[in-house]
Amino acid sequence: MSSPLPVRPLTPRLGARVDLDLGRGLDDATFDAVYEAFLRYQVLLFPPQDLSPARQVEFGRRFGELQIHVMNQYHSDAHPELYRLSNLDDKGRPNGRHPDKGTLAWHTDGSWQRVTGQATLIYGEVMPASGVGGETHFCDMYGAYERLSPAWKTRLAGLRAVHNLDFSRTRRHAEDPLTDDQRRARPPVDHPIVRTHADSGRKCVYLGDHAESIVGMAYDEGRALIEEVNAMIVHDDLTYRHRWSPGQLIVWDNRCVLHRATAYDPSRDRRVIRRCTVLGEVPQ
Ligand SMILES: [Fe+2]
Repeated sequence: MSSPLPVRPLTPRLGARVDLDLGRGLDDATFDAVYEAFLRYQVLLFPPQDLSPARQVEFGRRFGELQIHVMNQYHSDAHPELYRLSNLDDKGRPNGRHPDKGTLAWHTDGSWQRVTGQATLIYGEVMPASGVGGETHFCDMYGAYERLSPAWKTRLAGLRAVHNLDFSRTRRHAEDPLTDDQRRARPPVDHPIVRTHADSGRKCVYLGDHAESIVGMAYDEGRALIEEVNAMIVHDDLTYRHRWSPGQLIVWDNRCVLHRATAYDPSRDRRVIRRCTVLGEVPQ
């Protein structure tokens, strides 16, 4: 028997808080309601709770197959599906180093793979005590598409962007370069700039910081177009800004949302998250 899900919208446009305890697993009817809310609100926030790595992986698997990230230096907690971002040294002190500066730019997880990310689940283990910095922001890409002028819709229709982790990670942000093996394992892939969401059937813009160039366009021209569109598709009133409390879990739909983290002081504040990404489909 399903019960109504305790869902409370976070903004008029996207995001909802779902007051569920995930620690004991969900029956199928409840998960179906969660998935419905996930499609409707694009970003779901679960209240602070003690969620073990195993439970996080189990919950992620309800959405679909979990990605094993190519950058295996981040694997954690004996679960290769989990990816840990931490600025702590082995004594638990801030080490002064941001673990992934690429996350500070608007992007969508796994767009550098042929089968791209569907959901990402982030559990906030440790968050800056001040509550300031290290936020995560989410922007609605259905709305971004709706707001394109007819001329832009026409211009982008049929265009494909090449997404490349080596570009966004190594060349663009110049930190923690991929190894040669990692680079070979993840060659660039192209995806439509306007995709149709597999579940909702709605169109959305699919671009972000992993996009390097445009198929059939000179490199510099493609770069300029990507920068222009990436700037154009983020709107304040289509954005949910999340300030974390420890123990919260957020799940979002990478197919129709861009996200970014905000900076924090990695020499003073402590921040540890564990993340897993669910594989979706080849964008159409
Ligand atoms: Fe991300």
